[in-house]
Amino acid sequence: MKVAAFLPNDYTKNVASGNVTWKSPSNIALIKYWGKKEDQIPQNPSISFTLEACATTTKLSYKKHDQPQNDFSFDLFFEGTQKDDFKPKINTFLKRVEQYLPFLKDYHFTIETSNSFPHSSGIASSASGMSALALCLMSLEKELNPKISQEDFNRKASFLARLGSGSASRSIEGDIIVWGQHANTIGSSDLFGIKYPYGVHEVFKKYHDTILLVDKGEKQVSSTVGHDLMYNHPFAQQRFVQAHENLTKIQSVLADGDLKEFIAIVESEALTLHAMMMTSSPYFILMKPNTLEIINRIWKFRETSGTHVCFTLDAGANVHVLYPENEKDTVYPFIQKELLKFCQNEHHICDQIGFGAKKL
Ligand code: DP6
Repeated sequence: MKVAAFLPNDYTKNVASGNVTWKSPSNIALIKYWGKKEDQIPQNPSISFTLEACATTTKLSYKKHDQPQNDFSFDLFFEGTQKDDFKPKINTFLKRVEQYLPFLKDYHFTIETSNSFPHSSGIASSASGMSALALCLMSLEKELNPKISQEDFNRKASFLARLGSGSASRSIEGDIIVWGQHANTIGSSDLFGIKYPYGVHEVFKKYHDTILLVDKGEKQVSSTVGHDLMYNHPFAQQRFVQAHENLTKIQSVLADGDLKEFIAIVESEALTLHAMMMTSSPYFILMKPNTLEIINRIWKFRETSGTHVCFTLDAGANVHVLYPENEKDTVYPFIQKELLKFCQNEHHICDQIGFGAKKL
């Protein structure tokens, strides 16, 4: 599929005003996106579990101008307060998507957004935030062109969300999403995320992700800067090859429910992501001492308990603790007893695999 497929046909309806609200989830990558080309094209494919509890709710109100304007016109409210410092990011997003949504300068927008997780919890809100906004804009496009199919709607929402933030392309649907062209994944694309197209073992139908908030501070290095450091990175090419291989490997794991192999791939991906950060120029470390404490405790507990608890990491110090539903009664008490002390104020979020964004 080519980018031109996302240019709209003529709109058949005239819409003067209205509003729409979407609740869009975050997601956690099992195989990580780290490194991109121009126009938000990933250097390697990634795969993620869509989450359920961590989500952004965005209400978009729109009112048509009497005359089309030369610039975008919008107000932004974050958790009830006008937030002008978030506007440049939205403005950049609107510029990137304008050619695919040619009505943008015809309207004044009010964007009211809030997160289910606390602000500055160290949980990235770009995936849920950008996907929620992309979905709201798609709902307006659907009003202008009611003929758009559900499949095209989701695909274009993911395409637009990607232009806001790469990982946001994986937050439209659930429960497992692939984004990025991969030879062994039919229908995969660099332009948008797709639902994982192959069989998945029962054990992955309900999987827990308990997010341990180790460090709620501002990130020292943003994802955008981190992605850029993959240019001229001495290990980049090998890393991109490895991600392709890991995506092939995880397909049989997802099919047959081999949790030992699942753990090996997922933990290696998390540590490789951080290894890329530690070996870039300039180098940096986002893990904290408590991140390592938690990882060591997980390893020790896994050995002694015979459970399949494992961890993954985002571009930060927080730890995502993953485990299957049938081990919850053993693993969650362990988290409470042995891991929460390494979180700021024992702060954690009990999340699990989810099924995508919802229109409210
Ligand atoms: C480490 O999607 O936040 O979470 O495209 O620059 O907005 P931008 O980056 P972003 O990067 C996410 C990186 C990651 C891995 C992943 O989610 O695959």
